[in-house]
Amino acid sequence: MIEVNILKSGVKRTLEVPKDMGLNLMELLKGEEYESIEGTCGGMALCATCHIKVKEAAPALSGPSGDELDMLETLPFIYKESRLACQIKLNENIRNLTVELVEN
Ligand code: FES
Repeated sequence: MIEVNILKSGVKRTLEVPKDMGLNLMELLKGEEYESIEGTCGGMALCATCHIKVKEAAPALSGPSGDELDMLETLPFIYKESRLACQIKLNENIRNLTVELVEN
């Protein structure tokens, strides 16, 4: 299982996610009905409506691709921890993840 901690407005919620469901983080957050995660493009790194901050990850995530960075740069505000949730695959490469939702 992957432990995913979600911070929203100072409140932390922890979910346990099976490693083999083939989900990305955007799909998980949408499924949990976090309204700030629209996922308009369906996970193609084309809309940036799944912008989140990654506060911690174990093991560390690989960095964003060029396409992800290009899309993040279209946002009015980005942070050093900014990522597109749809580009974070919840698989055997992740044990623990803490993310913070941001208003877009
Ligand atoms: S869902 Fe569109 S960029 Fe992530």
